[in-house]
Amino acid sequence: MDWERTMLRKEQNDLLTQTGPGTPMGQMFRLSWQPALLAEELPENECPPVRVKLLGERLLAWRDTQGNYALTDEFCAHRGVSLWFGRNEHNGLRCPYHGWKYDHTGQCIEVPSEPSESGYCQKVKLKSYPLIERGGVLWTYMGPPEKQPPLPEWEFATVPASHSFMSKRLQECNWLQAMEGGIDSSHVSFLHSGELNTDPLFKGSKGNAYNMGDMKPMFEVVESPGGLYIGARRNAENGNYYWRVTQWVMPAFTMIPPRADHPVHGHFWVPIDDENCWAWSFDYKVTRPLSDKERKAMEAGQGIHVTYVPGTYIPAANKTNDYLVDRKAQKEGRTFSGVFGIAMQDASLQESMGPIVDRTKENLVSTDNGIIMARHRLIRALKAMEKGETPPGIVAEHQHVRSAAVVLPPDKHFKDAARDALVVQTGKEHVTV
Ligand code: FES
Ligand SMILES: [Fe+2]
Repeated sequence: MDWERTMLRKEQNDLLTQTGPGTPMGQMFRLSWQPALLAEELPENECPPVRVKLLGERLLAWRDTQGNYALTDEFCAHRGVSLWFGRNEHNGLRCPYHGWKYDHTGQCIEVPSEPSESGYCQKVKLKSYPLIERGGVLWTYMGPPEKQPPLPEWEFATVPASHSFMSKRLQECNWLQAMEGGIDSSHVSFLHSGELNTDPLFKGSKGNAYNMGDMKPMFEVVESPGGLYIGARRNAENGNYYWRVTQWVMPAFTMIPPRADHPVHGHFWVPIDDENCWAWSFDYKVTRPLSDKERKAMEAGQGIHVTYVPGTYIPAANKTNDYLVDRKAQKEGRTFSGVFGIAMQDASLQESMGPIVDRTKENLVSTDNGIIMARHRLIRALKAMEKGETPPGIVAEHQHVRSAAVVLPPDKHFKDAARDALVVQTGKEHVTV
């Protein structure tokens, strides 16, 4: 491979990292349903509204008297007060400054200072996006109404609630460098090596031994209908290979290959603005509920989850406290980087690159193949989108995917031998080692 050509030029880096209104990458995000909030953030009718910043737009999520979800402009159309201070009452949100009131579609329904027969309020409407609940997540679609796709079909969101767990955490860097960590299978043998043997949601899998036994994985990346299958091949016994196949579906869904009978996990990396994103982290099983032990471990911040600054979705270990780095634990080999927990090991390093890493300065190697191909696939899809094509990742078929971990003989390629394992098989668990 010509590594010089794999580097991104500045314009390409800008193209992939800018997601505000009117940007091509922002347009791609806006054409599919994005996780906006956890359902637990709006627990009851007339509960307090929640500020939501997504793709550079400042919005407000709220739930009216009838239980309708609303995602509207954060600011009052009168003189720009944040409606976060609003009164959620009688089927609408009332601005506390001069009493203008809006319904869940953003329509202004009352301007108390104007004679009601003037009909003035009918001319005022806040920007508003649909907000629907599925799998414990409130999803929004921020694109043109005529292009709104059917509801999201990701498997974790369609299994019974008892089978899945979802968390979110703030990550203080651009969405792309966070997502690139999600498809970079090669760092596991280093950064997360401590957790493979100790984390209750990782330990005990035969795959861990393969992970640690071969630090030079061969990457085989194959285009999938919605994005990429990222295969990492390591040596197993008797000349066989251990394959870990990660799924990436455009633009920002990743699913990590399973280990033994542990729940399968993955992420969405959703831009808040160009320098921050939400790391959404799901875990699920297909045929059984999560055990109490598993759920408790997730709630306690193990596996790919974190603990929080109370009352927020900001990780307790964060930039302001140097991620609680423990140099002694690093020296003693209990953690590779000194940071505890898989999620914060990733986030600390990705945030350390700066809010938007300069990709013109990278020196890429063969284990970066997945990342290189993902960038190029995105650039290609953006070009096609300019010509009116629908980007991948939106239709249900592209969302019915699975990651897999398999041991195969040397003459079998994962894309043939594990073809069935890479799509949803109703009623069957993931293929795992
Ligand atoms: S600013 Fe909201 S009613 Fe005046
Ligand atoms: Fe990681």
